[in-house]
Amino acid sequence: MSSTNIVNIFEIKNLDYKYPGNIPALRQINFNVREGESVALVGANGSGKSTLLKLLDGLIFPSSGEIRAFGTTLSEKVVDSGAFAREFRRKVGLVFQDPDVQLFSPTVWDEVTFGPLQLGIPKEEIISRGLDALQLLNIAHLKERLPYLLSGGEKKKVSLASVLSLRPQVLLLDEPTTGLDPRSQGNLIDFLLEWSDEHNILIFSTQDLDIVEELATRVLVIGSEHDIITDDKPEAVLSDRDFLLKANLIHEHSHRHKELIHRHEHAHDHHH
Ligand SMILES: Nc1ncnc2c1ncn2[C@@H]1O[C@H](COP(=O)(O)OP(=O)(O)OP(=O)(O)O)[C@@H](O)[C@H]1O
Ligand SMILES: [Mg+2]
Repeated sequence: MSSTNIVNIFEIKNLDYKYPGNIPALRQINFNVREGESVALVGANGSGKSTLLKLLDGLIFPSSGEIRAFGTTLSEKVVDSGAFAREFRRKVGLVFQDPDVQLFSPTVWDEVTFGPLQLGIPKEEIISRGLDALQLLNIAHLKERLPYLLSGGEKKKVSLASVLSLRPQVLLLDEPTTGLDPRSQGNLIDFLLEWSDEHNILIFSTQDLDIVEELATRVLVIGSEHDIITDDKPEAVLSDRDFLLKANLIHEHSHRHKELIHRHEHAHDHHH
């Protein structure tokens, strides 16, 4: 494949997802994601953001329609074992909305080195990746602690570190900044901006439109009917106050989205 070709890493076609009990979570979802994109998923509570991230990670599978990743249709069979499964797990990492779902190791260090160990990476490199991930999230002092006895924000940082130590090409982050203090949020955003390049893919959900503006090259808005009601550039989505109100992305007491009026002091470059 020549490098000038557009490479779709994900292709989602006519996807519907229902939870047991016939509970609709996603309806008629169609979109592709190319290398280099940074996609924000926004929408009201219960619209389907977390469900979509789990589908993209091959943890659950469409009720109808399909998801192709790296050219292969995701199914229980292909993500369970075999060459594709190994490659897919190496390339794609999901950080759950709820860190309690993610964390299972006896110590923070075991947690952040678990992924690299599974990949059969040499010991020296596992150690350096683990240390890098701890440093990045500023949690080196928690190394020997029990993950389940940490604070909510600390848990979130450990779950982010445990996925970043895998160094995946595709990062799926479910509300990555929720529960983080302002400095930690800033550090994470700076890291993700630097990490983004023409090859990597970031897909994240958030309720924070400031973060959408800082990080995303594209926004998918999921509506109350669990379908994609907008797929556009952040500038277009964030400047339409009536739409934001209607889609439950701001409320009527919100001031005009402040980033649209005055940029951050530390405005980041927006070309990824
Ligand atoms: N395990 C489950 N079993 C049954 N229904 C579920 C399950 N998980 C989610 N749902 C339902 O599926 C729909 C989509 O949920 P999802 O968690 O994807 O929404 P979300 O956009 O991530 O919401 P939030 O902003 O609250 O995180 C909701 O109606 C929810 O009640
Ligand atoms: Mg969610």
